[in-house]
Amino acid sequence: MTQPISVVTGGGGPQLGWGICLALAEHGNHVVVADADPEAASRATSLLREMGFSATPSTLDVTDLSSVQEAIKQIETRLGRIDSLVNSAGIGLDKPIQLVTSLDFDRLMHVNVRGAMWCASAVSRVMAAQGGGSIVNIGTVHALGTATGYGLYSASKSALVSLSRALAVELGDDRIRCNVVHPGALRREQDLDPESGDPEVRERHAAFAQVRQVIHSPIRPVDVGNAVAFLASDAARMITGTELTVDAGTSALLHDLRPATKHQPR
Ligand SMILES: NC(=O)c1ccc[n+]([C@@H]2O[C@H](COP(=O)([O-])OP(=O)(O)OC[C@H]3O[C@@H](n4cnc5c(N)ncnc54)[C@H](O)[C@@H]3O)[C@@H](O)[C@H]2O)c1
Repeated sequence: MTQPISVVTGGGGPQLGWGICLALAEHGNHVVVADADPEAASRATSLLREMGFSATPSTLDVTDLSSVQEAIKQIETRLGRIDSLVNSAGIGLDKPIQLVTSLDFDRLMHVNVRGAMWCASAVSRVMAAQGGGSIVNIGTVHALGTATGYGLYSASKSALVSLSRALAVELGDDRIRCNVVHPGALRREQDLDPESGDPEVRERHAAFAQVRQVIHSPIRPVDVGNAVAFLASDAARMITGTELTVDAGTSALLHDLRPATKHQPR
């Protein structure tokens, strides 16, 4: 069997981008690291190759339709097919809604929503011609419930969820699936490292994991990557139009007003 080809936008990102590329490679995919930053794409590609995986760099600006179309055409010409697309390129914003500017609004919507749409549109033509494929869009727990300052980010990712459902419905006849993965609060490897990490950041993260997660260990980018790799694969061939949350239980947990003692079974 030929190796599946997976395109990861924002794949040059050191956090989730890397975690997704690594998990896809570990699950047997040839990874196309597609990023607006050519150096970041090359760096991640070289790292994957040094680890014995196969990867190709690609430069694209997801907000620019012609840049996306050109990059996808080059990938198709070079690699022959595209089995999965992961829309991970995204930007955040921590600003109360009353202070949000037109520029903030356009930047977030353009990268987080329009970017995913242009990429899905271009890649789905390749997938339809080859008989199917899988699109995984990276959301966030902020699409499920949010906090002060994250309103616009939350709205952009909720729009991405609606877009994903629409893509699942419109592309089903072409055997193209589309799903969303919602990462929770991720921990970067450098923050977890007891030697180099900032102890204050580590303590804050540990306190969050203790109080706001059901599973109290840190969520690593590759944990999200493994969920993405599953949805990208044929093992998920009947799964489309859904959302998969990788948040160690944060979104399932309500505040408990009882004293913080463990429930004792009778
Ligand atoms: N980091 C987290 O804790 C977290 C949690 C939940 C969801 N997410 C989501 O995961 C995704 C990745 O987040 P991250 O924190 O790893 O990001 P990051 O900033 O580390 O990396 C994002 C990458 O996207 C690339 N990029 C930005 N704009 C682009 C464009 N127009 N075209 C192509 N590439 C572009 C950047 O060059 C960068 O390499 C985002 O969609 C984000 O909303 C992140």
